[in-house]
Amino acid sequence: MNILQQPTLFKQSCYAGGKWISSSNVINVTNPANGELIGTIPKLSEQQIIDTIEQSQQAMQKWKQETAKSRSIILRNWFNLIESNIDDLAYIMTMEQGKPLHESRGEIKYAASFIEWFAEEGKRTYGETIPQTIGTNRLTTIKQPIGVCGAVTPWNFPAAMITRKAAPAMAAGCSIIIKPASETPYTALALAELADQAGIPAGIFNVVTGESRQIGEILTSHSLVKKFSFTGSTPVGRQLLKQCATTIKKSSMELGGNAPFIVFDDADIDKAVEGAMIAKFRNGGQTCVCVNRLYIHDAIYDQFVSKFMDKVSNLKVGNGLDEGIDIGPMITSQAIKNMQSLLQDALDKGAKLAPLSISTPDHANYMSPQVLLDVDHSMNIVHEEIFGPIASIIRFSTEEEVLERANDTIYGLASYFYTNNIKRVYRMSENLEYGMIGINTGLISNEVSPFGGTKQSGLGKEGSKYGIEDYLEVKYLCLDIA
Ligand code: SIN
Repeated sequence: MNILQQPTLFKQSCYAGGKWISSSNVINVTNPANGELIGTIPKLSEQQIIDTIEQSQQAMQKWKQETAKSRSIILRNWFNLIESNIDDLAYIMTMEQGKPLHESRGEIKYAASFIEWFAEEGKRTYGETIPQTIGTNRLTTIKQPIGVCGAVTPWNFPAAMITRKAAPAMAAGCSIIIKPASETPYTALALAELADQAGIPAGIFNVVTGESRQIGEILTSHSLVKKFSFTGSTPVGRQLLKQCATTIKKSSMELGGNAPFIVFDDADIDKAVEGAMIAKFRNGGQTCVCVNRLYIHDAIYDQFVSKFMDKVSNLKVGNGLDEGIDIGPMITSQAIKNMQSLLQDALDKGAKLAPLSISTPDHANYMSPQVLLDVDHSMNIVHEEIFGPIASIIRFSTEEEVLERANDTIYGLASYFYTNNIKRVYRMSENLEYGMIGINTGLISNEVSPFGGTKQSGLGKEGSKYGIEDYLEVKYLCLDIA
């Protein structure tokens, strides 16, 4: 990583209790664009994770006593340092995650926005005065930091999924221990280096690396960890939630999605195509709010498909560090195998691949975008999260029919629809069983709005004014003044 302006941002040790910890027991981290080794990270022992939790508990005793304003000043230092090191951070992210450099830069800005937002929200964690029930009592609530927090974060957004959890936790007065994905630890460790430079006290922000299952088990079962937050797949979330049950830990889960993208016959078709491109191919299709199935009205089907195909055929696949790339490598070749089995199932059941010839580098992690036509609900691709650049297109003819199909899933994270009929906007918004709805837009993520799902897509909201609540405990005070 000699190319970095600040080479100290590339750390091969982890950050716990304000110290950089190395180990002879390591995990290799490779670049998904070419399989080359980037470096190693320590495989911490069970005892080292427990020590981190105990130090973190110790450190937060002072941090929680600080004023929200002084915590905010320190968080803002962190925000400023992230913004001013954006080129290095984006480079590290593309090296380990594969996304195009312009998307990595976008993610760093997105990640920093959570810190800026929660640095301010921390000052507004108001309690309440409740009208008394008898003349001599006075009823109030106060909000207090919940305690040490644990978080397991994913490889698809190596920075933003950390700050979306860590910033509200720290703004609330908590400490947090992050276990980043083993595929993408270096962005997390660079954030830790900047947290240290920003003056975040030792033990408040920790990044531990090692065996995922073991660290997940400790963070979900240790009694000093009072809150656990996870972003990842629904099956893993279900398991972690079970583990949290032993100590009745407050938990938030941001899990899988199966987003429908519906285009009605009265929609602006060019706008819908543009939105579909973003919502389908952002991060190579590897986001939990990515479109999984496109429902296009009969009357505009041919027009939409032809315009969509024109755009898809112009996508450039390659190493995210190269100029002009739209889709980088997938995180692993296994991810491609999973997609190929979904494709095969759909083809066996009658779907057709639209003709496309997009060149891809000769390495097992690259996947050429695919458009699948004549898809129907008998196919697995409609029910399982694709997590990659396959667009599966389904025809529909009535609003009732498409609504029923859109809701026919265990997931309820994001959904999208395009229409210019205001009555339909309300009907659809009220009846779609999803936590987030993009109406005439394919891009819904930002720091000010509540991000989270319904059904088996998760629990809790991140970002927005709600995002800090999960890191606070409401305490009720009943005072007798007689
Ligand atoms: C995710 O895929 O987990 C997050 C996507 C986003 O924040 O937009």
